[in-house]
Amino acid sequence: FRISCGLIEPDGGKLAELFVTESQKNDKKKEAMSIPGIKLSRIDLEWVHVLSEGWASPLRGFMRESEFLQTLHFNCLRLEDGSVVNMSLPIVLAINDSQKLRIGESTRVALFDSDDNPVAILSNIEIYKHPKEERIARTWGTIAPGLPYVDEAITNAGNWLIGGDLEVIEPIKYNDGLDRFRLSPAELREEFTRRNADAVFAFQLRNPVHNGHALLMTDTRRRLLEKGYKNPVLLLHPLGGFTKADDVPLSWRMKQHEKVLEEGVLDPETTVISIFPSPMHYAGPTEVQWHAKARINAGADYYIVGRDPAGMGHPVEKRDLYEADHGKKVLSMAPGLERLNILPFRVAAYDKTQGKMAFFDPSRPQDFLFISGTKMRTLAKNRENPPDGFMCPGGWKVLVDYYDSLVSS
Ligand code: ADX
Repeated sequence: FRISCGLIEPDGGKLAELFVTESQKNDKKKEAMSIPGIKLSRIDLEWVHVLSEGWASPLRGFMRESEFLQTLHFNCLRLEDGSVVNMSLPIVLAINDSQKLRIGESTRVALFDSDDNPVAILSNIEIYKHPKEERIARTWGTIAPGLPYVDEAITNAGNWLIGGDLEVIEPIKYNDGLDRFRLSPAELREEFTRRNADAVFAFQLRNPVHNGHALLMTDTRRRLLEKGYKNPVLLLHPLGGFTKADDVPLSWRMKQHEKVLEEGVLDPETTVISIFPSPMHYAGPTEVQWHAKARINAGADYYIVGRDPAGMGHPVEKRDLYEADHGKKVLSMAPGLERLNILPFRVAAYDKTQGKMAFFDPSRPQDFLFISGTKMRTLAKNRENPPDGFMCPGGWKVLVDYYDSLVSS
């Protein structure tokens, strides 16, 4: 361990920001109208967003076949200088037979959003087969029916993938009132520098923050101070792209996170809250590598991982899809993530003897209450309260209001 000056370098040494310059914009828009076009789905657009800001650096566009194969088989990309960066999820764009036919011999295609605005140009394109079953099996470790993301973005997607270099015309905006929370890796790096952070520890999440999550974050800060850091800053980094239907929507989660900061569960002085634009795969240990890698690019040198990251219930069997400890074990060993300090945590649960969330002590299991996501949802839906000390009252109220809004709409 070494206290370094300056933030951790992005993978590949430099952020791959893929925007065209201001002076090129008009020409690129005109060009987009004159070459074959592809309409993007919401999830495709989220990936354009991710690529455009360099979260997947050094990747410079949707994957060509060689990158796709390296990702599927090695969870890594080999760079020209022989070094290896982690890249565990395929970032690919699917097209169907008729789109392929229309593209013909063109080496460039334009990408359009749902309102038919030109978003980007993909150049030096390569079209190759979309091996759906193999992609699903290798990414999720199962092809069980009913996997989220697979149902929405793979099963009915085209039989071809199109890769190439991406040139993005305008930064992606969603106009949902939350764009100001969507800081790019470059903007986050600026913010950490402005705050004089000497360590940045990232917390990925897609759920409301309960006091068990908070315990992981406050314990990390304590440990970093003990190590000698003077100003460790927390990146509270909720995932903002596609999530499954029964997860709490981003806008409600942001309200909930705001309460957590307002009510002092986390310290606003040492926390940067921002939205991570990636869609969610729910691919457990494979996906958590992507979650960690992307945060290196945003300047984080410490990464918190707890129980069953990016996990969920098996879609057809009555069990979790992944072993709860595999995420943190895999992350601690993952090739290409050696520069990132992984902070693995034991499961936190409600300790009835203390009346608060604490790290589970296997020597006295009877004292602990596990409040799963499902249990939490059921309580909030029925307007029941969780035990005191599970979540701050303001945060809990946001959840109750969310489930109320579902009933009344
Ligand atoms: S995730 O899909 O973003 O990983 P979630 O929002 O539930 O899901 O979790 C965010 C982080 O908190 C992950 O690192 C996860 O392992 C950790 N975590 C969630 N619940 C617990 C818990 N009860 N004890 C320890 N860690 C947890």
